Amino acid sequence: MARHPAGSSRPMIAMVIGLSAFALATTLRSAEPKSTTERILPPGKLGEVVRLGREIVERTGEHPLSKPYVANALTCQSCHLQAGQDPQAATFLGVATAYPAWSPREKRVVTLEDRVLNCFMRSMNGVRPPLGSEVSVAVTTYITWLSAGESLAMNPDRPLGPRGVPSLALPAAQADAGRGKVLYAERCASCHADDGQGGEDGPPVWGERSYNQGAGMSRNDKLAAWLKVAMPPDDRDLSEQQALDIAAWVNAHPRPKFVLKDHLPPADRLGEYNAAQQSPE
Ligand code: HEC
Ligand code: HEC
Repeated sequence: MARHPAGSSRPMIAMVIGLSAFALATTLRSAEPKSTTERILPPGKLGEVVRLGREIVERTGEHPLSKPYVANALTCQSCHLQAGQDPQAATFLGVATAYPAWSPREKRVVTLEDRVLNCFMRSMNGVRPPLGSEVSVAVTTYITWLSAGESLAMNPDRPLGPRGVPSLALPAAQADAGRGKVLYAERCASCHADDGQGGEDGPPVWGERSYNQGAGMSRNDKLAAWLKVAMPPDDRDLSEQQALDIAAWVNAHPRPKFVLKDHLPPADRLGEYNAAQQSPE
C-alpha cells in the first residue's frame, strides 16, 4: 500500500475488490470442514481426553488402552487417513452430527459410541471394548470434537456421516480380478508388497493381519469406493473400473473369518447389544 500515493483511487478499488473476494471466500469456506489448526482443544480434562482419543486412533494396536482389543496390524487411521482428518478417505469430520443413526444391519438406532466399537470388531478384527470404557469414551470424544460447530442432522437411513465415501456408479459385478492383479503390481505392491503383507511403507491388505470378512472393506464395492478417494495416498487417480478391479484382486485373498460371538466381550461387560446380523458393514 505504501507505494501508492494516497490520492489515487486505483488501490482503493483494488482493495474493495480484494476485500469482497476475501469475504466471499470466507463465506464459501465456512461450509467446509475446519482444518486442524482452526480447531482449539477444549480446556482441562476434556481437552486431554480429545488428545488421548487421537493418539488411540493413530496407534491403535500399540496404545495400552486399545491394544487388548485389536487383533491385526492396522490402526484406525490405516483407513480413516490422518487420524480421520483427511476430508475424503472415510473422514471423521462432521461424523458426530449424523448420530444417533438408524442401522439397517443391526436393526436398531446406534450411537456414535456403538459405531466406534463396531469398527474394533470388524476392521480391527478385535474384540468390542465395553461401552463406557476409557478407550471407548476417548475415541468417541475425539471424533465428536471433529464435528464441533456443525449442526446436528441425525441420519435416519444408515450410520454414516455427511461426508461419507461416495458409492461408485459402476456395478461391483463388473470387477475383473485378473486386470486387478496387474494394476496391483503396478500401483500398490511398492508399499503393500506383492504378497499383500505390507511392510515399512504400508499395512497388510490381506491375510491374517488384515481386516476380517465382517469389515465393510471386505466387500468389493466398499473397498473400491474407498480406494478411489484414498489410494495411492499421494496420487489418488484410479478410475472406477481400476478401483473395482484392484478391489476384486485384493479381496480374492484369504482374510480372517468373522464370527460375531468371537468378537464380543464377556456378557457381563457387553451392556445392551442386540445386533444379531453377521453381514459386513
Ligand atoms: C480396514 C479399514 C478400517 C479400519 C482399520 C477402521 N475403519 Fe472405521 N470405517 C471404515 C469404513 C470403510 C467405514 C465407512 C465409512 C464411509 O463409508 O465413509 C468406517 C466407518 C466408521 C465410522 C462411521 C463413520 C461415519 O461416517 O458415520 C466410525 C465412527 C469409525 N469407522 C470408527 C473407526 C475406529 C474408531 C477405528 C479404529 C478402532 C476404525 N474405524 C477402523 C473402515 C475402517
Ligand atoms: C506410497 C505407498 C502406498 C501406495 C503406493 C499404496 N498404499 Fe495403500 N496404504 C498406504 C499407507 C501408508 C496406508 C495406511 C495409512 C496410514 O496409516 O496413515 C495404506 C492403507 C491402505 C489400505 C487400508 C488398510 C489396510 O491395509 O487394509 C488399503 C486397503 C490399501 N492401502 C490398499 C492400497 C491399494 C489397493 C493400493 C494401490 C491402488 C495402494 N494401497 C497403494 C500406502 C500406500
